[in-house]
Amino acid sequence: MSAAVPGGTVAAPAPAEAATAFAYLQDLVRERSAMAIDEGKEYLVEARLADLARQRGRSSVWDLLLWLRTQPHGQDHTAVVEAMTTNETSFFRDPAVFEAIRTRVLPDLVDRRGGTRHLSVWSAACSTGQEPYSLAMLAKEDPALAAWDVRILATDLTGAVLDRARSGRFTKLEVNRGLAANRLLRWFTQAGTEWEVAPELRRSIEFRQLNLAAAWPAVPAMDLVLLRNVLIYFPVSTKRQVLAQVRTVLRPDGYLFLGNAETTLNLDGSFERVEVGGATAFRPSGS
Ligand SMILES: C[S@@+](CC[C@H](N)C(=O)[O-])C[C@H]1O[C@@H](n2cnc3c(N)ncnc32)[C@H](O)[C@@H]1O
Repeated sequence: MSAAVPGGTVAAPAPAEAATAFAYLQDLVRERSAMAIDEGKEYLVEARLADLARQRGRSSVWDLLLWLRTQPHGQDHTAVVEAMTTNETSFFRDPAVFEAIRTRVLPDLVDRRGGTRHLSVWSAACSTGQEPYSLAMLAKEDPALAAWDVRILATDLTGAVLDRARSGRFTKLEVNRGLAANRLLRWFTQAGTEWEVAPELRRSIEFRQLNLAAAWPAVPAMDLVLLRNVLIYFPVSTKRQVLAQVRTVLRPDGYLFLGNAETTLNLDGSFERVEVGGATAFRPSGS
């Protein structure tokens, strides 16, 4: 623990204490989210937790962590886990995936589900919402889906990002990343310095908190699942467990999209990798 030194300043924790604090953080984040924080990422911890340490009156991020280690789990522990989570996302991230969904996946599902005119789509690990809003735009823009009931479920571990997603408000910087000008004009209105998504899109999405690495609450059967750029943070055992659970909710002829650096290969033999348009999807074997 840091100690007061003459002159009123506070000494940084000794290296051994910083190592203890780092190990505690690794355990806390792994326990709460399954995410692994690799050795050597001390710089990342300092960058992500500096504000929180300052707000709590702690002399350093290590001091904050050593203090939390002695406290019963509460809001500050949650805030640490949330601050350590990577929320990087953007509208139509990896455009080839959305082009494949628009030109191949939705038309195929329209053919298959013509009887019920119902589609269920899940953006798992949706971060601040750009992914489910991109999906909602595609669905609303598709004339073949005009009279359909398209339900989009958007989930994430982190309450703070879900609050932002639910608000449907995005900064100029955020809408400038991946959103074509015609879509910005069609689906957003300017609200002060921000852009607000059309209520029609917001209404088509249900936002819910869900920890992919824990036992899931009931999730309806899905036609299309986007589970992108989250497995990458999990250890192999958690990747396997999450994919096995996805398999139970994905319809036998449904589609799963992962992040570009992610695969089911060597993790779950019940999916097969298929090229769809210019993108890679994973489908239940034998579909
Ligand atoms: C890098 S973002 C990916 C966002 C979006 N899917 C994309 O590809 O643009 C990763 C998201 O995974 C979420 N996440 C991390 N661990 C999770 C867990 N155990 N359960 C659910 N979501 C988790 C984070 O909160 C974060 O919003």
